[in-house]
Amino acid sequence: MEKTLFFIKPDAVERNLIGEVIRKVENSGFKINNLKMVRLRKAQAEEFYKIHKGKDFFEKLVEYVCAGLIVAMVLEKESAIKDLRELVGATDPAFAKKGSIRYDFGLDVTRNSCHASDSSKTAKDEILFFFPEKD
Ligand code: RTP
Ligand code: MG
Repeated sequence: MEKTLFFIKPDAVERNLIGEVIRKVENSGFKINNLKMVRLRKAQAEEFYKIHKGKDFFEKLVEYVCAGLIVAMVLEKESAIKDLRELVGATDPAFAKKGSIRYDFGLDVTRNSCHASDSSKTAKDEILFFFPEKD
């Protein structure tokens, strides 16, 4: 079964939406294979988002994602990577499809409530980033 990395971002954790987000994920057929709540340090966030280094939103993104707790999980399903991207919706909640997590909960292009791996390579790397003890 395919695995992908998902995390609930600080804006959703702060608004007590962990349960609502997980309900949508589970109702969409994903199995939670591993889960933890963490607060990223700046260096960890910079490492996680290194592909965006140099982009105009990089600093703002790193600051935001370190500003509070996040809930990271490994999700399992057939076509998990593609299906989770679909469930998460467009980066900017204003353009996210009805029914997606960002449509329901996202506030703006930075505070968009969740993260989902975008390929099999990033899924593998991102699972190891959050759960190095278990592959
Ligand atoms: P994610 O990586 O969090 O699942 O989101 P994504 O693939 O839809 O978006 P990506 O392009 O990878 O951007 C990573 C995160 O950076 C913030 N962002 N801000 N124009 C902006 O201000 C801007 N663009 C992106 C968002 O938090 C986005 O999720
Ligand atoms: Mg991305």
